[in-house]
Amino acid sequence: MAWTTSSITSASAIVLFLHYITLSLSQGGFSFTSPMAKSPEEQHPVNVVGWAAEDSSGVLAPINISRRATGEKDVTFKVLYCGICHTDLHQIKNDWGNTIYPVIPGHEIAGVVTEVGGKVLKFKVGDRVGVGCLVGSCHSCENCANDLENYCPKMILTYNGIYHDGTPTYGGYSNIMVCDESFVISIPENLPLDACAPLLCAGITTYSPLRYFGLDKPGMHVGVVGLGGLGHVAVKLAKAFGVKVTVISTSPDKKIEAIDRLGADSFLVSRDPDQMQAAMGTMDGIIDTVSATHPLLPLIGLLKSHGKLVMVGAPEKPLELPVLPLLTERKLVAGSVIGGIKETQEMINFAAKHNITADIELIPMDYVNTAMERLAKTDVRYRFVIDIGNTLKN
Ligand SMILES: *[C@@H]1O[C@H](CO)[C@@H](O)[C@H](O)[C@H]1NC(C)=O
Ligand SMILES: *[C@@H]1O[C@H](CO)[C@@H](O)[C@H](O)[C@H]1NC(C)=O
Ligand SMILES: [Zn+2]
Ligand SMILES: [Zn+2]
Repeated sequence: MAWTTSSITSASAIVLFLHYITLSLSQGGFSFTSPMAKSPEEQHPVNVVGWAAEDSSGVLAPINISRRATGEKDVTFKVLYCGICHTDLHQIKNDWGNTIYPVIPGHEIAGVVTEVGGKVLKFKVGDRVGVGCLVGSCHSCENCANDLENYCPKMILTYNGIYHDGTPTYGGYSNIMVCDESFVISIPENLPLDACAPLLCAGITTYSPLRYFGLDKPGMHVGVVGLGGLGHVAVKLAKAFGVKVTVISTSPDKKIEAIDRLGADSFLVSRDPDQMQAAMGTMDGIIDTVSATHPLLPLIGLLKSHGKLVMVGAPEKPLELPVLPLLTERKLVAGSVIGGIKETQEMINFAAKHNITADIELIPMDYVNTAMERLAKTDVRYRFVIDIGNTLKN
C-alpha cells in the first residue's frame, strides 16, 4: 500500500482512536466504574526486603518494597538463590543510561513456591522454580505467538521494567517474587537450585543460538570466545550436544581449566597468530561471548565456508565488520539475546538430563558490593550466586 496523505491521516486517526480507547479504559478501570479502587498499598500488599542501588554509584543496600498479591495466574515464591549477571553491574551503575532508581537487580532467580493463584495450571506450593530475564510480554505479536517472548517489542524485564499495572519491576536480590506463571520455569529435582540459577540467563543465552543456528549437531566443531559466565556454560552445553568445542581466549592460563575442568577439546590463544593461523577454516560456528571491543576478522577466518559467527555479548561501541570474507565464503555474522520461555524450559530440562550447572561461588547477601567489584575485574570463576534464603535478613 502506498502511503498517500489520506492513508497517513487515517493511520493517525486510528492511533489517536486507540489512544482514546486506552485512556478511557484505564480511567474507567480506576476512577469511574470502580469507586472502590484500591490504593497502591492495597494493590501491593506483600512486604518484600531487597537490596537496591539508589543512584549510579551502584552501591547496593537493604530496601523495603512491596509486591502485588498473588493474582489468579501468579506464582509467588520464596527466593533462595540469585545469580549475579554482568548486566546487573551495568544496570546498577546506569552504564546504559536507562536505569530507574531504586533498582533491585537479579534475573537468575531460583526458589520454592509458597502460593499459587486460582487459575495457575503448571505449579503448586513446594515446587522448585526459577525466573530469568523476563516477567511479561504482549502475548499478541508474531514473536509471542512463536514462543519468542524475548523478541517481543513489549517484553517486560524482570527488573528495571514497568509491569502491566504501571509499577516498576524488581529483581531477585529480594526475598519474595510474584510472577505470572507463563514466565516461571520448573526446575527438575536433580539440579541444585544454587548452581542452576545462572542457567536462567547465561544458559539460555548460549543454548538458544546453538539450537537456532544449527550448531547442535554431533560431530560439528564450535568455537566459544571468552571463558566467563556465558562462555563456560556454552562449553558444557555444546559438549552435551556432542559437538567438538574449542575455547578461544586471550588468557593462555585458562587452557588447563577449559580442557580439564570444563571438557573442551582444544584451546586457542587469540593473541597467538600461529595458533590462529593453524585453525583457519575449521569451525562450523562460533559463539562469541565477549563484550569488550575486539577484532572480528580473525574469528571469521576460523570459520569454514558457510560458517556462522554468533554474537551474544554486547560491546558498547560498534565493531568493525570486514564484509569481503563473508561474501566469498557465504559466512554469517549474527546476534542472539536470551531465549523464549518455552525454550528456557527446554534448556533447563536438557541441563537436568546432562547434569549441567554453572560453576559458582556462593556468597552471602552482604558480600554483594565486594562481589560487584570483583566481577568488574572478572575475578570470579565463573558466576557469583547470592545465598538469599540463608543470608538476606528480613
Ligand atoms: C524495613 O522495615 C522494617 C520493619 O518495618 C524496619 O525494621 C527496617 O528498618 C526497614 N528497613 C529499611 C532499609 O528501611
Ligand atoms: C552431576 O554434577 C555434579 C557437579 O558437577 C557432580 O558432583 C555429580 O556427581 C554429577 N552427578 C551425576 C549423576 O553425574
Ligand atoms: Zn543476565
Ligand atoms: Zn509480543
